Amino acid sequence: MDTNHTESVVDSLSIFEEEVLKGLLATNKSLPSKYFYDAKGDELFQQIMHLEEYYLTNKELEIFTSHKQGILETISNGEPFRIIELGAGDGLKTKILLKHFMDCSVDFTYTPVDISGNVLEILERSLFEELPELNIESYQGDYFDALSEISSRPEKDIVFFLGSNIGNFSHEEAVSFLSNLRGHLKSSDMLFMGVDLKKDPSAILSAYNDSKGVTREFNLNLLDRINSELDADFNRENFMHYPYYNPQTGECRSYLISTIEQDVHVAGELVHFRAWEAIFMEISKKYDEVQLKELAEQTGFQIVRSFQDEKNWFSDVVWVNP
Ligand code: AVI
Repeated sequence: MDTNHTESVVDSLSIFEEEVLKGLLATNKSLPSKYFYDAKGDELFQQIMHLEEYYLTNKELEIFTSHKQGILETISNGEPFRIIELGAGDGLKTKILLKHFMDCSVDFTYTPVDISGNVLEILERSLFEELPELNIESYQGDYFDALSEISSRPEKDIVFFLGSNIGNFSHEEAVSFLSNLRGHLKSSDMLFMGVDLKKDPSAILSAYNDSKGVTREFNLNLLDRINSELDADFNRENFMHYPYYNPQTGECRSYLISTIEQDVHVAGELVHFRAWEAIFMEISKKYDEVQLKELAEQTGFQIVRSFQDEKNWFSDVVWVNP
């Protein structure tokens, strides 16, 4: 048996347990949304991305389709470069750009980074079929481990961080993540980042409260995961999904609310819920131009350009490490 592997599974299980208990035993209860993504959570997120109400995927697709040449001209000066995509997933949107760059005979390497080896294998297989000439060097692991290990090349790096993944960080977390990211870049390296923009609050709320209840399921799935992995006894019937959008901060926050007073056992600990007590599950932050400018300033990046869809609902920004 591979001892290292066993140790890392045990380690990550105890970190999971530690973080879950810390969140549930706090005065204001919370659970880390990064744990949404077990096999079932990945499947539910795929379904969310295909929902009509979840406009984010289609808007970013629209941007890539209509601005692929502008994006190429902004990130490339004709020299060879490397794209490092953090959290590559199924690469559906990125493929539009990769294909265009290949059609233009651009000299570049594509390095998808993902924590899941399975995701990377599927992505590599589909890229091999659709773009057999693509130069691909994938990296399985943590984003910053990847950046530390692979950032010593002379060519320009463009880090792709798409799909409004930055929105799942609080302001403080976003500042620390982007500052840390910039610390791994060479001068002139770039960040190409997808951000969801402020818009009619009802459109935002519908995206996180879809009529088919897939997002509700996505949230409740974390309670199921805690039940099966941490020997807990959550009864999902006693929790309601409640997303709330604050148009001033741009934060869409999702909660699971206990509809009754109840006790839940988690990893040997007793967690008491008062009736209508909430667990904060996820933040999906929406930005405006002023907030993006501040974020770039606070993290030491310089804004180069940005690309929007026709309705101005989503933006892909290009920032440079000066
Ligand atoms: C992955 N992330 C950008 C999604 C979002 O929009 O915040 C996750 C998600 N949560 C509910 N629906 C989608």
